[in-house]
Amino acid sequence: MLKILGNFKKYAFCLILVGIVSMAASFWNSARASIRSNGADLQKSNGADLQKSPHASSVISGIKVIDINLQADQALFYLLQNLTSPDVRPGGVMASPSRTSPDYFSHWVRDAATTMNIFVTYLEKGSPSEKVVAFKLLSRWVDFERTLQRLNTMTGLGEPKYNLDGTAFNGPWGRPQTDGPGLRAGVMIRMAKILLARGDVSYVRNQLWCNDCVIVRDLEYLRQSWRVPTFDLWEEVQGDHFYSRMAHFRAFYDGAELAGIMGDVNYKNTLAWLSGLALDELKRHVDHSRNLVLPTINRVAGWDHKQSGLDVAVLLGILHSSHPGELFSVGNSVIHSGVQKLEDKFAASYPLNHSVKIARTAIGRYPEDVYDGNGFSGGNPWFIATNAYAEYYCSLGQVGAGKAFLERSAYHAGRDGRLSEQFNRFNGYMQGARDLTWSYASYLSAYIACTGKLPNLDAILKGKFKTVRIQTNHKK
Ligand code: NOJ
Ligand code: NOJ
Repeated sequence: MLKILGNFKKYAFCLILVGIVSMAASFWNSARASIRSNGADLQKSNGADLQKSPHASSVISGIKVIDINLQADQALFYLLQNLTSPDVRPGGVMASPSRTSPDYFSHWVRDAATTMNIFVTYLEKGSPSEKVVAFKLLSRWVDFERTLQRLNTMTGLGEPKYNLDGTAFNGPWGRPQTDGPGLRAGVMIRMAKILLARGDVSYVRNQLWCNDCVIVRDLEYLRQSWRVPTFDLWEEVQGDHFYSRMAHFRAFYDGAELAGIMGDVNYKNTLAWLSGLALDELKRHVDHSRNLVLPTINRVAGWDHKQSGLDVAVLLGILHSSHPGELFSVGNSVIHSGVQKLEDKFAASYPLNHSVKIARTAIGRYPEDVYDGNGFSGGNPWFIATNAYAEYYCSLGQVGAGKAFLERSAYHAGRDGRLSEQFNRFNGYMQGARDLTWSYASYLSAYIACTGKLPNLDAILKGKFKTVRIQTNHKK
């Protein structure tokens, strides 16, 4: 099977053929079942049971149909399933339902913020009813985070993850991870600006921007702690990380802007000054001789196995925290140089990129990675990394290239559109934590950048969306 796929022309032909059959076979599934748990009030009438998969339609055997639009609907569906699970306190963002091998059944502040950013986009650009749903989800998340901020923890707001019942996780872990408060503040500031623009001042004043409110607590924590050596987003190395620093920069910069809008002139000046300091630190990551932005400088503890200076974390830092036109943004040539070099590395080093030459390269975290999703048998391509390439190229206006990375992700998805954390570097099978929330969120974020379209949240909540059940062909 794998060999057949090596031949792209044959593949493309089959794809068209099966595409026609599958379109005919697909239908609008209007599952209406009772609604449970905290998903219930999202769609009071005609609501689907978000805990049940709607993918019970035709099975096309032989070859996998790549449909980036269908994949987007499926990603949103599974993402909502994780957010509304009866096992999670409302507002908590389950990273994955996997409780063992690996145990990802937690709320990571980072995963939650980057995920909820999708719903800020719905709040801004969705239909009127989508805006209502998005606000419900976002305000629950704000409430959940407010609870977390008041817990007694080992590193205050620097805790990377919490239990899904809203209690602290005090077991051994790489801590602090100071990107979390920066990302959280950044996403909530974006939310606040949208609410203010539509005249919703009271929610912002009462819940987001007051002395004891979520955003200000994060900014105050960062004001004290942004220079403290932190664990990186991969939770492996302690030091100064570009990804985390971008999150600090963004929080200070946007915080200053919001302070200005809210009339807090002194605070605005303080935050603007801090954003300047954070920018100076960011500049220290540029290695001019290699034309690279280094993911980590001043390592103090943790793993010491990265020599290449390449890591998709740099690109993720840009996507999660930059402003267009800023010094560090998608259009920056030193960013492009790293993106290119990292793709070249993975194109050469992952056997999968030789055996299955469809669309574009499957991308991993960094060349020296050994984490296989549960143990340490070797690094693999990750959905969030491959999706980051899609978002990067589409943000640059290179939509063809971007979509090719989306196709790569969709190709390795499960037959029902599910996404785990990784897919195997030899055979393309998924592995690592299943149904990983940020795999879905990163797919959606890239999809929106590439197509300008938002998957139909209304239809998905009503249990109506086009589904095709497909047989993957890359599975031997
Ligand atoms: C789990 C972390 O979340 C993952 O990123 C890391 O690579 C492994 N632990 C190894 O420390
Ligand atoms: C491991 C990743 O390295 C980390 O960044 C992430 O927050 C957790 N898994 C949860 O998805």
